Amino acid sequence: MPCIAVFNQKGGVGKTTTALNLAAAINRDGSAPLLIDLDPQAHLTALSGVGAVDSTSSIYAFYQSHRPLLELLHHPPQNWQVLAAHLELAKVDTQFGKGPDILNRLRNALVRERLSAPDHSIVIDCSPVLGVLSLSAIFASDRVLIPVSADYLAIKGAIQVERTLDALSRVIRHPVMRRYVLTRFDSRRRMSWDIEKTLRERFGEQLCTTRIGETVALAESPAEGKHIFDYAPTSRGAQDYQALHAELKDTGFLATGKPATDAQASAFIAKLKGQMATTR
Ligand SMILES: Nc1ncnc2c1ncn2[C@@H]1O[C@H](COP(=O)(O)OP(=O)(O)OP(=O)(O)O)[C@@H](O)[C@H]1O
Ligand SMILES: [Mg+2]
Repeated sequence: MPCIAVFNQKGGVGKTTTALNLAAAINRDGSAPLLIDLDPQAHLTALSGVGAVDSTSSIYAFYQSHRPLLELLHHPPQNWQVLAAHLELAKVDTQFGKGPDILNRLRNALVRERLSAPDHSIVIDCSPVLGVLSLSAIFASDRVLIPVSADYLAIKGAIQVERTLDALSRVIRHPVMRRYVLTRFDSRRRMSWDIEKTLRERFGEQLCTTRIGETVALAESPAEGKHIFDYAPTSRGAQDYQALHAELKDTGFLATGKPATDAQASAFIAKLKGQMATTR
């Protein structure tokens, strides 16, 4: 591990954008992550360099016919491996029930097939549907990253996610670290700052100090099929995702060893806040 599920039941909040660009930042930091696309929309698959795949070589084959994950790995030119999605994945939510076998199948396979290793980050892009696929992503993960877009409905969505994860924590037997990250932040809008304040009061240090700004480059890069570091390496969007990677790494969310202690995380956050206060 770490195995990070990028999850929010609300649609369009920047889950796929965050999964892709965080994976790209991990890559730039020198390690090759495994990307798992568990969204039947297959947006991450398209952006990961894999393009469209048949359902038989997508992760649907793992759920449908118990194909080993290792046989389904794609190796695009980017320095990462991908378990690709396909529209057929939508059937998983109705076909296989909601029993412990299906919910734990991904976690068990990642361990059994030695795909979860201390030096190997796994990033899972979840769909906005809280069904078997998203639950199986959360069951497989020891980290959940929750992108929250800077609009009022997103606050309700974030609270809903909190309730979901609280309920799941009684079922999942391993600890799961959470981080919320504000996306599509527009510093010219008062509302963005109000939303950040509300989220900070509610989630405290679980809310990342880094905010992902609303930028043209982040909106345009998917059309070119690129992550932000390829599309516009000096853009604000690239800087934001680089900063998010640094913060998650420094606070133990990405580290390969033990997570940072709360005291270490607090010290780092205090340092970042100090830097921000002097640059504002
Ligand atoms: N910071 C940003 N600035 C500008 N556009 C953004 C930003 N983040 C995401 N977008 C755009 O917003 C749209 C939705 O983003 P994305 O697909 O990442 O959301 P999602 O949560 O994965 O959506 P879904 O719930 O449908 O899977 C995309 O067109 C994306 O390019
Ligand atoms: Mg998505």
